[in-house]
Amino acid sequence: MMLTQPEKHAKELRELLAKYSYEYHVLDNPSVSNDIWDSLLAELKRIEFEHPELITIDSPTQRVGSELLGGFQKVTHKSRMLSLNDVFDRADVEAWVKRMDNLLPGRQHEYFTDIKMDGLACALIYQDGLFIQAITRGDGFVGEDVTENVRTIKNVPLRLIDTDGFDEFLLGRTEVRGEIVMLRKDFEKLNKKRVAAGEPVFANPRNLAAGTIRQLDPQLVAERPLHFRAYDLIRDNVLDLPTNIFTYEVLSALGFTRNQQASVFNNLDGVVKFVDNWDEKRHDLPFNTDGLVIKVNDRAQFTKLGVVGKQPRAAVAYKYAPEQATTMVRDIVISIGRTGAATPVAVFDPVVVAGTTVRHASLHNADEIERLDIRIGDTVVIFKAGDIIPQVQSVVLELRPKNAELFNFGKALSNQYPELQFDRSEGEVVYRVVGVTSDLLLKRGLEHFASKGALDIDTLGEKNVVALVDAGLVNDLADIYSITFGQLLKLDRFAETSAKKLVTAITEKKSPLLERFVYGLGIRHVGIQTATDLINRFNSLDDLSEATIEQLQDIDGIGNVVAESIIAWFADPDNEALIEKFNSLGVKPVYVKKDGRLSGMNFVITGTIQTMSRDQAADDIRALGGTFQTAVAKDTTYLVVGEKAGASKIKKAKEYGINIINEQQLIEMIKG
Ligand code: IVH
Repeated sequence: MMLTQPEKHAKELRELLAKYSYEYHVLDNPSVSNDIWDSLLAELKRIEFEHPELITIDSPTQRVGSELLGGFQKVTHKSRMLSLNDVFDRADVEAWVKRMDNLLPGRQHEYFTDIKMDGLACALIYQDGLFIQAITRGDGFVGEDVTENVRTIKNVPLRLIDTDGFDEFLLGRTEVRGEIVMLRKDFEKLNKKRVAAGEPVFANPRNLAAGTIRQLDPQLVAERPLHFRAYDLIRDNVLDLPTNIFTYEVLSALGFTRNQQASVFNNLDGVVKFVDNWDEKRHDLPFNTDGLVIKVNDRAQFTKLGVVGKQPRAAVAYKYAPEQATTMVRDIVISIGRTGAATPVAVFDPVVVAGTTVRHASLHNADEIERLDIRIGDTVVIFKAGDIIPQVQSVVLELRPKNAELFNFGKALSNQYPELQFDRSEGEVVYRVVGVTSDLLLKRGLEHFASKGALDIDTLGEKNVVALVDAGLVNDLADIYSITFGQLLKLDRFAETSAKKLVTAITEKKSPLLERFVYGLGIRHVGIQTATDLINRFNSLDDLSEATIEQLQDIDGIGNVVAESIIAWFADPDNEALIEKFNSLGVKPVYVKKDGRLSGMNFVITGTIQTMSRDQAADDIRALGGTFQTAVAKDTTYLVVGEKAGASKIKKAKEYGINIINEQQLIEMIKG
């Protein structure tokens, strides 16, 4: 006995599978497992195999058809597929609204906004609820018939859902327009597989989606998961769809995926808020976007406003600042991070990417330099997604100058850090300074920061530094400013008086002289004199952090090695974060403008002076624009001779014809 009639059973299976498919691919909320789906599909296939006359065009077994011989047929669109004019800021949006107001004075303002997907436009035709054809945009008038390929897209309904209140859309012709995209997660998965198979990776989801839809073999298309998002619906009777927001409700009711974020606003402020809100959040969307779409919500007004060229007057595309830009690599410098790891950093001609100026980007390690095949002099593509740190995407090989040099990591290390030794262990991609740990580097760094010549923090000497770092109270230089009295008391080394003393000493140094602070940061090759020269030229940490190699080399006494070291330090994201941390803890170094009385004069002190410390004298000289040198050189202007002066310095000074003065004369020069 037959339990069910095959025709009835096949119909039930098709309906059930369509429901499950909708739940899975459109609602993202499946009610059954894949195994159940597979076994029901196998059952349907079996019936269809035994009764081929029962196969229907909307059967899920028909999603993947056979290869198209002879290419795609051209099809004329029933109504033209338009594109949109771009706008870039609020002023552009206001100008657009004004143009519409002039044409339709007294119009009610209502705007419909949605996210603009970066894929390819496609029109799907349904007749009496059944999917019959898919046409690419083509030139807007004539597109190509890609029905068989679109049929493989799992969230495209093969039959429209019959929802109460929307039955009219299941009668006659319904055209649904939307964007075919590849979701980022699917794109990444596919590329991973290609890497594993040793095949070249695809450039981006948009190109891959566009390339896929033009494949002649639907089998291959089915292996590349495409996704359809509807944004428009066209009916012969325009009265079926009074507004764009209602159109979106209909799209959902008929079983399409559409952006849930679409909104309606009755004023421009609302639109601008939507724009700002999505500026950052759009990176969290599952697909790539290239902006937003803003339309007049009322469709009768939309039509009335008409079309100019290829674009409707009643809609615009709001484009966000580009997230890619090209620039030239001027140098590759190496930064030594907190752990002693040597990180190569590309230095560029400054370029604006996604609204901020980019001057450098980490190249991560020697392998990455090799992978990108990046050389000094190359033009590169920089990209930045949202808040993410800028990265080099690729090299524009066509623009490579003939003399572009291969980067030699080992050579660059010994040029920039001749005093250090580096080691790259087996299987590691990173070069590290030999003989240091991050703890040791931090201890040395903090000792230097607190030392007399730098911030001069009382009682923060070697032993206390070791205690603070070992106790885990300090993980970077800025952390000392958040240490509390209570925390110190818990350590063996501290009693009430000593703890209080240290906290007070640290708090007192929240506004250090800028040059001492820059020196204290421990940038390689930046002694106090260089720090002073730097801040005399740049006056603020912000400006110094943005200095170019050329600007740095323009300063007397700063050559390539020092300039590269400064650039490398500021290019390290950890250091950027450190500066921000200082700032948020209320550490505000002060720049004191020098009166310049001693500018151009170079001083050396030999022996001990009585009335002030050597550091104080050096500070005073620098504060007046002079330079404090540690050894007599040809360009020394004055040798100050104190008690127990060194004979060799005096002899050298005489040889060079340098002025020799005593402590009193120096004090008079300082006092002026
Ligand atoms: S509405 C008159 N909404 O962007 C065209 N388009 O440059 C009205 N696009 O051709 C289109 N996401 O391919 C609209 N949410 C969206 C969209 C969207 C992507 C594409 C579409 C259109 C192009 C306009």
